[in-house]
Amino acid sequence: MPTQSTNSPLSAYWLPFTANQDFKAAPRMLAKAEGHYYWSEDGRKLYDSFSGLWTTGLGHCHPKIVEAVQTQVAELDYAMAFQMGHPKAFALAERLADLAPDGINHAFFCNSGSEAADSALKIALAYHRARGEGTRTRLIGRERGYHGVNFGGISVGGMTPNRKAFNACLLPGVDHLPHTLNLSENAFSKGLPKWGAHLADELERLCTLHDASNIAAVIVEPAPGSTGILPPPEGYLRRLRDICTRHGILLIFDEVINAFGRVGAPFAAERFGVTPDIITTAKGITNGVIPMGAVLVSAEIYKAIVQGPPHLIELFHGYTYSGHPVAAAAGLATLDAYKDEGTFEEARALESIFEEEIHSLSDHPKVIDVRNIGLMGAVELSPHPNGAGQRGMAAHKACFWNEDLVVRNGMDILQFSPFLNAKPDDLSETFEKVRRVLDTIE
Ligand SMILES: Cc1ncc(COP(=O)(O)O)c(C=O)c1O
Repeated sequence: MPTQSTNSPLSAYWLPFTANQDFKAAPRMLAKAEGHYYWSEDGRKLYDSFSGLWTTGLGHCHPKIVEAVQTQVAELDYAMAFQMGHPKAFALAERLADLAPDGINHAFFCNSGSEAADSALKIALAYHRARGEGTRTRLIGRERGYHGVNFGGISVGGMTPNRKAFNACLLPGVDHLPHTLNLSENAFSKGLPKWGAHLADELERLCTLHDASNIAAVIVEPAPGSTGILPPPEGYLRRLRDICTRHGILLIFDEVINAFGRVGAPFAAERFGVTPDIITTAKGITNGVIPMGAVLVSAEIYKAIVQGPPHLIELFHGYTYSGHPVAAAAGLATLDAYKDEGTFEEARALESIFEEEIHSLSDHPKVIDVRNIGLMGAVELSPHPNGAGQRGMAAHKACFWNEDLVVRNGMDILQFSPFLNAKPDDLSETFEKVRRVLDTIE
């Protein structure tokens, strides 16, 4: 069958979450990475202000992770994932259980944050059903929540562009709590905003509306990232936890971004002092080197589901690459590095410097908000009169082409996710460069 003529070596690849036409007109190509830098295809050295895509907190091409991957791929490249096992997956599960808050001590592996979110929702439904509470099927997410791109994740997620084309096929029986960003109350907050804990009480309203006996789980990112970094209001997560406990609803923390040091602790649950029933992770679990995700659950959930005739499968769910040996090896080496290098402590100590540097942009006339928590921060720009998103994109491109700096933008929100071991001077240089860019773009 004749194929459409493409005329360009860039034509075949359909880039994810990318303005393809615009990108292909002037591609921003990364050819190599090491430490805190990328090198572009044209040989420029670029500082990475986003640690990959929230993934690579230790820096790129960490020698110990590279070595672990190289050794593993030559020793056991793949191991059948169903009805068979291999030692490194068990070792990694145990290490994660040790790191997780008390009571969370089993790991189910998958390959991404999206798969982790959908797996967690399925586990929540299976748990209630196994305990004879099969009426608990409703799922509650939050406006502006991001739980990946699979159907479960976009259904409980609350990012409109990710949902609108698929509206008719979203899961039924899903409600959303309100998001917590309100610039008239919270703008330019440093760390946790003081206003907004009461928004958790919306969950009580939903319990009254549906009767809690119909609600399975609530899923939230403790500190939402991809939607533009919305630090949780003081006391908000505790309130959600209490309402869930009161009504027998499982609380799921999506820590795909938050876990592994991003908020100065192994898990946001620890940082915010609120323990959920389920935690989802991905990204930093392997420092982004090999795709991997994990759903961490309490013993109570594991035991409720893993029962019945011993020769039968208890949960009909899993992936060909669940617990992949190379990913597990990368995960173990990553956890070793976090521990050996004191990464979580280092990240925590950097927070105040990062906060000061990012808030140095607060006085810029194009900036309408700056917010931060841990080593996550956002600089929200006023939209260009010609259309929302143009100014953010212009800033992203000007950083790349003019300042040798990789900055992520979500519409007009510039997002920052510095390395967990970033150098203070690099942080101040980053925001000096961003200021220059804001001065020059329209
Ligand atoms: C909180 C959260 N959940 C899920 C995902 C989806 O992860 P993935 O892109 O690995 O599927 C992301 C990705 O950024 C995320 O931030």
